[in-house]
Amino acid sequence: MKNLAIFISGSGSNMKTILENIKEGRIKGVNPALVLSSTSKARGLEYAEDSGLKTAVFNYKNLSEDEISNGLISLLEESEIDFIILAGFIKILPPALVKKYKNRILNIHPSLIPKFCGKGFYGLKVHEEVIKAGEKESGATVHYVDEGVDTGDIILQRTCPVYPDDTAEVLQKRVLKIEHEIYSEAIQMVISGEN
Ligand code: GRF
Repeated sequence: MKNLAIFISGSGSNMKTILENIKEGRIKGVNPALVLSSTSKARGLEYAEDSGLKTAVFNYKNLSEDEISNGLISLLEESEIDFIILAGFIKILPPALVKKYKNRILNIHPSLIPKFCGKGFYGLKVHEEVIKAGEKESGATVHYVDEGVDTGDIILQRTCPVYPDDTAEVLQKRVLKIEHEIYSEAIQMVISGEN
């Protein structure tokens, strides 16, 4: 059994789907051992608490890089975490942490990496740029996290169409549906050693 830590900052819809899939046996061999939020205001936190999971709030504010790194690592070690699942976690992970958990940190991004990713590409902005560029398709990508932003090896990617009258909000919803499908699939692939 591998222990997962799911990191969130917002609504946590990816987290929710992953938790449901674990519960229903659609992701096997994992235990959701910790949900960590960068803010106490994350809506997903309440869901995790109500589900009886162990939760933690870790606020980066006024902390040095070393303090962030040591603080996060001790929380992860306390729960004997094997894999970190970033699910809408808005903060950048410190390099020491990324190094320690190399090939054991996954992230999901709402575009077809290497397009529309990197610093500043989050939230609606991603979809606004896709539409502005006149793209005919977009999608989502699950990838390993390395020291860069959205630069780690790709685990799974799936596309969806972009329609001429799409608004960023409409496209965001279409992409989010794909995210919910592929994140659980990618976790299962990694856990079963298919990747
Ligand atoms: C998703 O679009 C994900 O790709 C990005 O942040 C968003 C999180 O959404 N990294 P949610 O909190 O899982 O609903």
